[in-house]
Amino acid sequence: MRFVVTGGAGFIGSNTVDELIRRGHSVVVLDDLSAGKEENLAEVRSKISFIKGSITDLEVVRKAMHEADYVLHLAARTSVPRSVKDPIETNRVNIDGTLNVLVAARDAKVKRIVFAASSSAYGETPTLPKLETMQPAPISPYGVTKYVGELYAQVFGRAYGLENVSLRYFNVFGPRQDPNSPYSGVLSKFCTAFLEGTQPAIFGDGEQSRDFTYIENVVQANLLACEAPSASGKVFNVGTGSRFTLNQTLAMLQRISGVNLEVKYEPAREGDIRDSQADITQGREILAYNPTVEFEEGLERTFSWYRESHAKTLAKQKAE
Ligand code: UD1
Repeated sequence: MRFVVTGGAGFIGSNTVDELIRRGHSVVVLDDLSAGKEENLAEVRSKISFIKGSITDLEVVRKAMHEADYVLHLAARTSVPRSVKDPIETNRVNIDGTLNVLVAARDAKVKRIVFAASSSAYGETPTLPKLETMQPAPISPYGVTKYVGELYAQVFGRAYGLENVSLRYFNVFGPRQDPNSPYSGVLSKFCTAFLEGTQPAIFGDGEQSRDFTYIENVVQANLLACEAPSASGKVFNVGTGSRFTLNQTLAMLQRISGVNLEVKYEPAREGDIRDSQADITQGREILAYNPTVEFEEGLERTFSWYRESHAKTLAKQKAE
């Protein structure tokens, strides 16, 4: 089968591409390298087609979609605080770009599109765990754009018969998540702080919690969502069903790394939600999604990966 992966050079995208190649599929990656990196595709580079381009350019999206069977639409401006700072840019990529991807997928008559939605659609709804039937109430521009993407995908199902599945990811973490931007995922920043001996910053009191989901579980969900019967038109939570506070994750990292670091507490971030936890019953039933890597094991694997890549960077610097 031929898969198009938008954002395929990014963290979630490149891990998904690796698995598609392992399964013998043909893969086209469309990525503008604004957040993704070619080095994330190093191991599969000779086996894929790579198109450098943005989802905001309809013609390039059409080109990528040529003879595609499935589309995994993962390209996005991914940060909540960045969307608060620059809602127009987040809207342009996440909504206008998604509309281009849907139009091109419809015209290329693909079998199905899987859209990377977000748990941020739930916003401050107080009930935990989050169920897909709850009324979305996003509290950041980013959350709005991800929710609109789901609505558009569903409308393309109704209006044009385009099969679609939206996956609401819950705080994905793991190897290749970029720790170097002010908008990076919290665990990538914490792991790096432990390796570099710098002080991790907690925004707020550290008692906010997240359903941190290891990348391997998300890759599994992505692939199941492409082919699961009776899934089209539906939205699924992709999490683990548990949650941990930031203070707990720091305690675990102290144990894993054997390093004791003092933490800086800073003011809470705008647009931040307090708690997040997925109910994954619907995904288990319809997609046969079954997260196999639990949080602590995922954190151990992730820390080892950052440790190795940190050691490689140091060795390179020494050689230069
Ligand atoms: C994350 C995702 C977003 C996804 C959403 C869904 C990232 C970068 N963002 O948003 O794409 O749609 O989950 O659930 O993965 N924090 C600190 N110190 C730091 C960095 C962050 O205390 O150095 C705090 C934040 O204020 C927040 C929590 O950690 O309370 C998680 O932040 P972050 O990793 O940025 O993710 P979300 O905002 O939850």
